[in-house]
Formats: sequence, C-alpha cells, structure tokens
Amino acid sequence: MEPEYLIPLLPEGLVPWEILCQRAAKSRAELEGFLHELQVQGFPVLVEEEGAGLAWGTPAPHILLPRLKGKWGWPYRYLGTVTSTQDVLRAWADAPARALVVAERQTQGRGRRGRRWESPAGNLYFSLLLGPDVDDWLPLRAGVALAEVAQVGWLKWPNDLVAPDGRKLGGILVERSGGRILLGVGLNIDTAPLPMAAALGEFFPVHRAQLLADFLWVLEKWLGEETRVVRRAWKDRSLMLGQTVVVRCGEERIKGIAWDLGPRGELILHTAQGLRFVPAGDVQLSAAENNVEDPKVSEGEPQC
Ligand code: BTN
Repeated sequence: MEPEYLIPLLPEGLVPWEILCQRAAKSRAELEGFLHELQVQGFPVLVEEEGAGLAWGTPAPHILLPRLKGKWGWPYRYLGTVTSTQDVLRAWADAPARALVVAERQTQGRGRRGRRWESPAGNLYFSLLLGPDVDDWLPLRAGVALAEVAQVGWLKWPNDLVAPDGRKLGGILVERSGGRILLGVGLNIDTAPLPMAAALGEFFPVHRAQLLADFLWVLEKWLGEETRVVRRAWKDRSLMLGQTVVVRCGEERIKGIAWDLGPRGELILHTAQGLRFVPAGDVQLSAAENNVEDPKVSEGEPQC
C-alpha cells in the first residue's frame, strides 16, 4: 500500500485499530506491516496497542493543506527520507511556482556555502519554488518571515535564525536552476543536531504543520513588501548591527563593525579602511572568540 493512500487515513494521535482496518479495508496484521514500512521510510507513524496514527504536528497533506491561508504551498509533495528537498524540487520538472516539497529526513541536506545540513527526524525541511520575479532581497525577506513565525531568537546576516544565546535554530538556502529559484528552509524543531545548534521545541511546543502554514502565509506578505520595509524589519530582528564582527568571505576574513544593509541587502561593514559592502559570507560575532586578532582587510573589488 503506497504512502499516499495510507497516510491520509491516519489522524494526528491514535485512531483505534477497528476503525483504521475498516477505513483501509485491511486486516490489522496487514496494516501493521504497511505502517512499519512507512516508519522505515521516515514518516512519523505511531503504532501502539490501542491504535495507530501520526505524530502531533506532522505536515502530511491532510494536516497541512487545510491550514494554508494563501497561494503558497500548492501543489504539495510530502516525503519520508530524501537526499535533499532541493534535489526533489529541482527534479520536479513541471512544478509551477509556489510548489512545495517537505521531507521528514534528508541524507544529503545542503547548507549555504557548500556545507552539510544535518537533517534528523523531527525537524522541518522544505523547499519552495519561486518564479523569476524575485529581487536580491529574497534571502532577507525569507529570513524575516522565518523569524516572525518562530517568535524566538534573532537574525544573523544574511538569514540565519539564531536562539537568544547565539545557537543556530534554522537557515535558508537559495539556489538557482535554469530560470527557477529554489528556496530551501531548515528549522530545528525537536532536535538540535550539532553542539552549536538549538531547537525551537526547547522554547515552546511546536506544531510543525501549523508553523509551516504560518511561514508560507507570512512569506507571501514579505515577498510583496517594499525593500525599505523589509530592511527595517530585518534590522529590527537583528542584534548584530553595531557589534564588531568578522565576516568570512572565502579565504578572506573581514573585520569591522556591522553597520547597515546596502541597497541589495549586502552587509555594510565599517572597517579600519572605511566602509565595505559584503554581498555574501559568514558572520562571526566575536573576533576574540574566533582567534582573529588582525585579519587582513582587503581593498578594491570584493571577492565574495
Ligand atoms: C544554511 O546553511 O543556513 C541553510 C540551510 C538550509 C537547509 C535546508 S533544509 C531544506 C532544504 N534542503 C536542503 O538540502 N537544504 C535546505
């Protein structure tokens, strides 16, 4: 029995076996076999003596779709274990703009700048297809939307969502494939997979499907906002402006005071050599912590 037939029969929480067997027109033994297969594929299926069902907050189509308020998130593919939701969306050749792919686990999740994104069960991993009509502010728009729905933490440029103590809660990856733009979002909900990571579930109980629906709704709003409004909102949610930071840009490390956002969403750094517009990179908040006493600040054309 394929997941697309069985999953819609499973509610959040447990449904008694008699009812489930009736709905699926299968014996309990047969169903237990199919449910076990779903678990192996990575779906959060509960199998208990009194019945079976889905974990609370599972973003299965019948739980997510009724919660969508806007135009984003349809058509929708909900999967167990994949390499990366970005790969699945890329391979979905006739997906229209606003299509959504969610997976429960990724074996080759990708982060920004070629890094790996650890993707154990219980978190949120999704990719959205955008049309070509997006501007340079897309990563910041998405970051503001994520921070708004997470309600915890602050934004580290360009769009890392970090807990109040600086541990990373989530991140955003924008990739281009032909004329298509793939927006990938990873948000730790149940599990912080690395020592410097945090999980939103540490702060309050999170219903993943509701949070995803809220994000899609809020993103729709932020995609339509003027850049000056996005810039203001990003600055309001960032604690790093005014702090001394080191930005890693490839091999280069640029030290300066995080000053502002430029006209294309770049980070403006106040360095010893003057203002520097950094279009991409990784921010480290404390120069001392990162053993950078006298980083080389290059002049001329930025490398990254
Ligand atoms: C970052 O480095 O901060 C960006 C992380 C983005 C991870 C998400 S998880 C869903 C989507 N699929 C991937 O392989 N990556 C993105």
